[in-house]
Formats: sequence, C-alpha cells, structure tokens
Amino acid sequence: MPVKNRFAELLPEITAWRRDFHEHPELLYDVHRTAGRVAALLRDFGCDEVVEGIGQTGVVGVIRGRSDSNGRVIGLRADMDALPITEQTGAEHASKTPGKMHACGHDGHTAMLLGAAKYLAETRNFDGTAIVIFQPAEEGGGGGDAMIRDGLAERWNIQEFYGMHNMPGIPVGAFAIKPGAMMAAADQFDITVTGKGGHAAKPHECIDTTLTAAQIIVALQSVVARNIDPLKNAVISVCVVATDSTAHNVIPHVVRLKGTARSLDAEVRDQLEEGIARVATNIAAAMGATAEVDYQRGYPVTVNDDQATVWAADVAREVAGDVDMTMQPMMGGEDFSYMLNTRPGAYIFVGNGDTAMVHHPAYDFNDDAIPAGASWYAGMVEARMPAA
Ligand code: NI
Repeated sequence: MPVKNRFAELLPEITAWRRDFHEHPELLYDVHRTAGRVAALLRDFGCDEVVEGIGQTGVVGVIRGRSDSNGRVIGLRADMDALPITEQTGAEHASKTPGKMHACGHDGHTAMLLGAAKYLAETRNFDGTAIVIFQPAEEGGGGGDAMIRDGLAERWNIQEFYGMHNMPGIPVGAFAIKPGAMMAAADQFDITVTGKGGHAAKPHECIDTTLTAAQIIVALQSVVARNIDPLKNAVISVCVVATDSTAHNVIPHVVRLKGTARSLDAEVRDQLEEGIARVATNIAAAMGATAEVDYQRGYPVTVNDDQATVWAADVAREVAGDVDMTMQPMMGGEDFSYMLNTRPGAYIFVGNGDTAMVHHPAYDFNDDAIPAGASWYAGMVEARMPAA
C-alpha cells in the first residue's frame, strides 16, 4: 500500500479545501466556519453520523465498515484552529484576516483527514467503525481535553486514537515517530517577589527584591541540574523579569518573574513543580523577602503507546517506503496528549519539506504532503480493522 491512488485523484479537491481553510483562519474555539464546512463535507461523503458541538466546536464523523464482526472502533484526529499571527507568505491563498493565520498547518491536517474520510466512506473496506475527529483550540485552549471531557471516547467506544502533525525539516511526505514521550508537558509559572522598596542609596533600609529575584533565577537552574536525574529531560526558562519601577535609584517593592517548565514524564513534572516552589520561597525567605509561586499545568506529556507506535510506523512505512524512528522527542506541547491519556494510540509527524518552521509568519502547509498524510490516516483504519 504505497500512497493510495485514490488520493492522487482527490489531490486537487483536498488541496482546494486546504487553501479555503487557509484563507479563512479562525482561533481557538471560534472555528465556526471551519467546523461548519467540515460537517457539511462529512455529510456529503455519506458518513453514517455527523455530530457537531463536541468540546464546544469540535466535529465527529462516524464511518461504518462493510462489516463489524468484533466491535472495533478507531479514532483519527485532526486539529482545526489557526494562530494570532499576521501572515507573510505572499501566497495566493494567504489569510484574508490580518492578525490570524494557519501557521501550524492545521488547515492541512483538517483537509487530509477530510480526504481520508471521503475515501473511507466510498470504500468501507474495513471491519469495524472509523471515527474522524476534528478538534478546536489546539493552540492553547485545550480543545482535545474539552472533547474528551464531553465523552468523546465513551460515546463512540473509541479503542485507539491516532493523530498526525506536519513538521518542517522532514522531507515532504516522509514520516517520523518514536515510542514513549513524543512531545513535552508544557507548564508555566509566575513568581511574585515582595520585599521592601526604597531609596537605592539606603539598601539597609530596604529588602532588595531585584537581588532576591536574581538569586531565584540562578538557583532555579539547580532544580534542573541537581534535582532531576541527569538521564531525564527538563527545561526551566525564566522569560520575564518585571517591576513597576523605571528609575535608576529606586529599589522596587515587588518584582515579578514569569517562565515555562517543560518535561517528558510525570515524575519529572512533579519535581519541577515542587522544586520551583521550594527554591523560590526559601531563597526569598533567606533574603528577608517573600515569594508567591503560581504554577499552572498546561498540556500533559504526549506519550505514544509502544504497540500502537509499531502499528503506526508499519502503515507509514507502507505509504512512504521508510519511516524515521530515531527522532528525539520535542519540547513543545500538544493537546492530543489528552486523547492518548484516555486510550492507547500514537502521534506521528509527516514531513513538510524545507519550509519555514511552524508558528513562523512565512510558514505554509505543503500540499505535496497531502497524498502521504491522507493515505496514512486511511491506512490506519484498514490496517487496524482489516476487512473480514
Ligand atoms: Ni500545531
């Protein structure tokens, strides 16, 4: 099963959907146009069931195979939302909305999964049920979590989830995947250091918040360097240091720090949360100041099931001839993690070729990846639920 011939025929149609989504980017849960178009197309394809409004604006399509001898159900997921970035591609199909663009290729993911849905509804050459899932709000809104909390997995008895993301730097149409942690847990923290402001020439009458904050920034790196097992992965980055003072000669009363903490397993994540609070509050106390730490958990680690990774890689190898299984995990976050925390499954990268990186204003999804990506989605259904 190399690239399915049907997707060569469908390529102009899928490309047209992709470019239409690209011209009309929508943010977070406000993906009404995109979701409406997805639902209308799924109905056109003859899906057995099309349900809108799962996780606010998510769309689910149900495609039953020719037979259903053992109740198998596979979920395929794409994301639909864009980013608050002003596009600089100069493409003919560039965003018509200043300040919004599909800079992460979710337009391509949605179009490829629609292509797979059209093919699966035409052929139905499988034994079981395929669920095509279009989620809102991947870019920071937790749309995948919202769909799971809306009962996605239980309502359709989904047994495995498979997701795909394009990746610049990987040859177009090639695949990369690894078992275990694929994407990081992405958390953020705010530290408020309160001391005693005053005249910078009389530090003994103050409690110096900037000196305290500086020591906290340095000591936080000891959490990564000294508390975390050196064979594991962690990042703490302090990215903002803010005071309300602009004077050269005033010790500010309050200094605020903001940053991000990334990890690839749950234990390290707990250690980062505990360590940041411990270091910040105790360094502050040693300096006579106080530190209030607000640690906010973002998306969990995206963990590929070992067996599902093998199945996903097998299909990718059939489509592309080869699959890169030597890739390193990435420290970005991904909210498909919520689906993989609910049921086993796998998340795979499809190459976008030599393009600008995702989230860059010059990025554009590469339509040449469509036949491979759509073939992989459809192939997962046919491989996991072979026709009886
Ligand atoms: Ni993305």
